[in-house]
Amino acid sequence: MSRLAEFVRGLSKAELHLHLEGSLEPELLFQLASRNKYPLAWSSVEALRAAYEFSSLQSFLALYYAGCEVLRTEQDFYDMTHAYLQRAHADGVIRTEVFIGPQSFTTRGVSIATVMDGVIGAIDNASRTFGISVGLIVSAQRHRTEADALDLLDQVRPWSHRILAIGMGGAEVGNPPSKFANFYRASKAAGFRTTIHAGEEGPAAYVREAVELLGVDRIDHGIACMDDPDLVHLLADRGIPLTVCPVSNLRLKVVKSLEVHPLARMLQAGLLVTVNSDDPAYFGAYASDNLLACRDALDLSTQDLVILSRNGFNAAFLSTDARAASLKRLDDYVRTFDWSE
Ligand code: HPA
Ligand code: ZN
Repeated sequence: MSRLAEFVRGLSKAELHLHLEGSLEPELLFQLASRNKYPLAWSSVEALRAAYEFSSLQSFLALYYAGCEVLRTEQDFYDMTHAYLQRAHADGVIRTEVFIGPQSFTTRGVSIATVMDGVIGAIDNASRTFGISVGLIVSAQRHRTEADALDLLDQVRPWSHRILAIGMGGAEVGNPPSKFANFYRASKAAGFRTTIHAGEEGPAAYVREAVELLGVDRIDHGIACMDDPDLVHLLADRGIPLTVCPVSNLRLKVVKSLEVHPLARMLQAGLLVTVNSDDPAYFGAYASDNLLACRDALDLSTQDLVILSRNGFNAAFLSTDARAASLKRLDDYVRTFDWSE
């Protein structure tokens, strides 16, 4: 490993855009399928991994939802969550705010308690054993109706004290934020912070709707905002964070190459932009891999990488004290890192 790669892996990082279902590596996916006697369409782990070639968000979602089929028991949700948290901890992630989308499971008869108790059990265990700080974001699917999203909100109420925020993902184009105005109003009224995927494949207008109509605390992806200079000013002035996922954008053909990814321009525009892995098992890149890939493609400086990591803590849903402690840990590491071989 190069000295720079070692620096980035050891750098304290916050990951704010991570779907637990998208962290399910093919090896574990096969184990769970076998445990549940669920027949898979792929003959081997290698064949499944080879199928991870995507032409769009939709082509990815088809495989992502197919992968969700193997998750059936509380132990399955525990094992998936534990595997991700262990890997994130080893990758220098000290704070992670993870999405789970229960509708993939509850619509085929898995109980909401199975999903929530499995995920939360693994979070509690990893917090104790690795010292990693974890927040849970319950995510609704935008191809479903607003009534479905409101029903999900009702179902998770017993776990309210364990839920950090409410978010939304899924097929973006044709399902604008405005479709979920009542859902976001209800989520905020219930005391939750809010995020939404917007401006990934969808236009800048969706990002504007998310901010002006829904009033979300954070935008997931949001890269299309760069098409609307007034919107960029609005996001920068209000300090609304954007959780960008560069390798995801590359693998879903949202950008033609990482060299033309807007991340560097977003930084220059003064946006509170962070780097995240989204669905690392499907895109083959965890948090550090994303930072290193951007560094190479966009010629980012070491200082840029530090700014991106600091942004992660500034964008996280943390208390003032926890934020300050995380930033101090990061700054101490940067100051004392020995660059000699
Ligand atoms: N976009 C929309 N929905 C998703 C994504 C994404 O990047 N990852 C998992 N669900
Ligand atoms: Zn996402």
